[in-house]
Amino acid sequence: MRDLNRKSNGEERVNGHEFDPIAETDTGSNDLDSSTVHNNEELSDPYCVEESPNKITFEDITSAAFKIKCGIINTPCVKSRLSDAIGIDLYLKKDLLQATGSFKERGARYALVMLKDEQRRIGVISASLGNHALALCYHGNKLGIPVTVVMPVLAPIMKIAACRQYGANVIVDGLDMGEAKRIALRQAKEKGLTYINGYDHPDIMAGQGTLGLEIVEQVPNIDAVVVPIGGGGLIAGVALAVKTLHPNVMIIGVESERCPSFYMARKANRPIQTAIDSTLADGLAVPKVGCNAFVTANPLVDKLVVVKEEWIAIAILKLVENEKCIVEGAGATGLAAILAGQLEELKGKRVVLLLCGGNIDTTILGRCLERGLAAEGRLLKFTVTVSDRPGGIAELCRMLASIGVSIKDIMHERAWIMSDIFSVDVKVVCETRDREHAEQLKNMLHQNYQRVVFGTSDMSTLNLPLSM
Ligand SMILES: Cc1ncc(COP(=O)(O)O)c(C=O)c1O
Repeated sequence: MRDLNRKSNGEERVNGHEFDPIAETDTGSNDLDSSTVHNNEELSDPYCVEESPNKITFEDITSAAFKIKCGIINTPCVKSRLSDAIGIDLYLKKDLLQATGSFKERGARYALVMLKDEQRRIGVISASLGNHALALCYHGNKLGIPVTVVMPVLAPIMKIAACRQYGANVIVDGLDMGEAKRIALRQAKEKGLTYINGYDHPDIMAGQGTLGLEIVEQVPNIDAVVVPIGGGGLIAGVALAVKTLHPNVMIIGVESERCPSFYMARKANRPIQTAIDSTLADGLAVPKVGCNAFVTANPLVDKLVVVKEEWIAIAILKLVENEKCIVEGAGATGLAAILAGQLEELKGKRVVLLLCGGNIDTTILGRCLERGLAAEGRLLKFTVTVSDRPGGIAELCRMLASIGVSIKDIMHERAWIMSDIFSVDVKVVCETRDREHAEQLKNMLHQNYQRVVFGTSDMSTLNLPLSM
């Protein structure tokens, strides 16, 4: 089934900063040079060959389910508290509860248990920015298989340290994923290591498909499953598992607008190089979907949506507040698409969302929460000109307190005020309960002060369901 001798051009995640945004599409013959390094050295991944892509089968997935059962958590799939507010019978598959915080363990473990004895002895190698590396290191450690991961220098320090903690050989090298992959492929060739692509290796896709088997066992009569897409391995496995058992279930793929590589591949009817930008959904930042993943998934995907970054931030906030779940950007894209009104046809239906990863940097999480609050009018910024006479600012504070508005930050400025010499500009950041409360604050300020300017945020114009 697999032609192990032909050249491949597969590419993995690159960081948005490093990626050339002008390279909108590829030329077919001129893919990213992951297969060619200095001295025209030929490097290839024998499991991912563009000229003869590999479709996985349902039997591959059932075999994976059987073989990884003892090392993977069958995570809960529970009804969401957001169901009523959004008018969808929503279920959340919480695969972020796997030991390393993402579904990537399924594929990683299966790829490892499927190695031949000699391959197990010598070990495996991969390039990854995060979740796949963590999963491979963790299960390599459990199974006693040597693992090397090449992580680009911009990989989160937290994830690099976690991989080392599992006893893996962690090489931090390469400016971006393209370079990291070339380094990994070169080492694979020199040392005889098996290269395991994080989304396009057939065993990886089969392993991810076990998520689909679990979902249909856990939730009866599903109408649709919403799946985030990066390199396409997850949707390939899940779509095949679900559609084989229940052909009428809709499979909806979601990408960030900053890395629409599956969308571009569908348009071109083959994976093509796509310009990507840095995104909150860093796990999805793959400029070219996998060739095996594409041939497997493309015929099974009923709808594809591309979501805006701001909705991803709001979805992260909603999942923290309503579900007590800390989800990384990639894992929140499904809810983002629903909140953004891009899946209106799911109203009244039973839908499963994959919360497939929870590895988000604390600082990014903080920023998402603040942006989400701002989008809902619960975090407001305004400047008001008040009297500089004693008690002017105190009066403003009293007024805010009288309606239960809480001040987070306050600053006043005298020198650059052009108007009345006895005036002062006061800049306030404050918290309100909801959008109605914010309206009450706005009205009160406009009634009592002549000059009030509210800070604008693109997101203040977003229309969130009020009841959430
Ligand atoms: C949390 C999370 N969700 C979704 C994906 C997308 O999976 P795939 O690359 O197989 O499409 C990834 C990929 O790393 C991920 O980390």
